[in-house]
Amino acid sequence: MNLQNTAILGLQWGDEGKGKIVNYMAGDFGAACRYQGGHNAGHTLIVKDRKIILHLLPSSICHQNSLSLIGKGVVISYEALFSEIEEIGEHTSGIVERLKISPACSLIQPYHQLIDLKKEKSNSQKTIGTTLRGIGPAYEDKVGRRAIRVVDTLSEGQLKPVLEETLDYYNFIIEKYFNEKPLSLIELMDQNLSFGEKIKPMLADVSLLIKKLNAEGKKVLFEGAQGALLDIDQGTYPFVTSSNCSPTGIAAGAGCGPLDVENILGVVKAYVTRVGEGPMPTEIFDDIGEHIALTGGEVGATTGRPRRCGWFDAVLMKRIIETNSIQGLCLTKIDVLDGLDEIKVCKEYDDSSGLFLGECMNLENVSPVYETLPGWDRPTKSINSFSELPSEAKTFISYIEEVCGAPIKIVSTGPDDLSTIVR
Ligand code: GDP
Ligand code: IMO
Ligand code: MG
Repeated sequence: MNLQNTAILGLQWGDEGKGKIVNYMAGDFGAACRYQGGHNAGHTLIVKDRKIILHLLPSSICHQNSLSLIGKGVVISYEALFSEIEEIGEHTSGIVERLKISPACSLIQPYHQLIDLKKEKSNSQKTIGTTLRGIGPAYEDKVGRRAIRVVDTLSEGQLKPVLEETLDYYNFIIEKYFNEKPLSLIELMDQNLSFGEKIKPMLADVSLLIKKLNAEGKKVLFEGAQGALLDIDQGTYPFVTSSNCSPTGIAAGAGCGPLDVENILGVVKAYVTRVGEGPMPTEIFDDIGEHIALTGGEVGATTGRPRRCGWFDAVLMKRIIETNSIQGLCLTKIDVLDGLDEIKVCKEYDDSSGLFLGECMNLENVSPVYETLPGWDRPTKSINSFSELPSEAKTFISYIEEVCGAPIKIVSTGPDDLSTIVR
């Protein structure tokens, strides 16, 4: 196979099955690299019949012959990172040797999590339904040029002045605005320095490592977190996450050039789901929505919240595919639609109000116009050859390709690797 540096990223509101696809492909690649987001992600893999949920570690982590990279665009919570390393270490050996982390990553500190929680629980501010992991406040600090980065935690002399200044700012907010006890500088110094000591053996210049792997003929997978409709610039703002989850985030977050990303594959579910607040034009409120949620196990892998379910939205997908250089699709979870009499796909919006302004993604006032396709009565679950799919499932796949304007290169019919069709 002629491998290329390949991005695997979600095109909907997250949870499309990125983890399964990255783990499935990673064995052929020199590394997989997470480049944005943080432990708000929940990527599920099945390895040797065991279900593993990853939040920060790349989904290549169980492959002994691939590296797992965390690029500088990721925001890291040290607590989350080390507890995940410990937990996943029970399933796979040699993590510390295979995991390479950029010292330029910004850190999520306890005050970020506190602010995320306070904002979400406040009655006066708009609720986003965040994962409460401190992601937004940590990215605010990065852009505000006051983030504590991994490199700062490697020496007391470097950490003290930056942490002191930042904590001054936050303690003012914590005391005066939230009426809470200030955080202790000494405790935060100790925590950060001890984690800084622990992370040292895993640090690497991820930008140069990608170049080096490529020079050795090894290709890299770029693993997106969240999905394009949650992208800070392209998504359904303000109901989005705080990073660029679409391809625009790859070069900045991994630390490579845009042309180093040679192949961009978007992962889409055969329907859509969303966790948290925000518009979702094709949301299903009846028994069929419940059936899909139950059959698809649509419960958040990070927060355990139920995921809202809806029909496949080809209007949004066509736009995202066209504007993001998406070269092909991985269609997941078609097996969840097994047994339905009819399957709907939103092919256009009725926007009689004229209020749907494309780039603003203000979807509140649109209503979906559906194409109704026949369901299939023979299950697709675990099928791994395209020719064995029921003819109605093939029709559904061709229709998605046609309305979205992109070829479907992988079809997934179950959570495990065997349930995968590569075309
Ligand atoms: P991610 O965040 O994009 O990695 O996706 P999640 O792991 O949050 O959610 C996807 C869920 O669907 C996980 O429970 C997967 O094990 C599961 N899954 C992935 N692909 C398939 C598929 O083709 N069929 C079924 N039934 N489940 C799948
Ligand atoms: P993966 O990588 C689904 C959603 C949250 C909330 C919004 C902002 O598993 O697909 P944040 O905590 O990021 O500030 O929350 O984004 N969200 C996700 N939804 N899958 C995810 O990740 C998500 N990460 C964040 O529910 O609506
Ligand atoms: Mg997920």
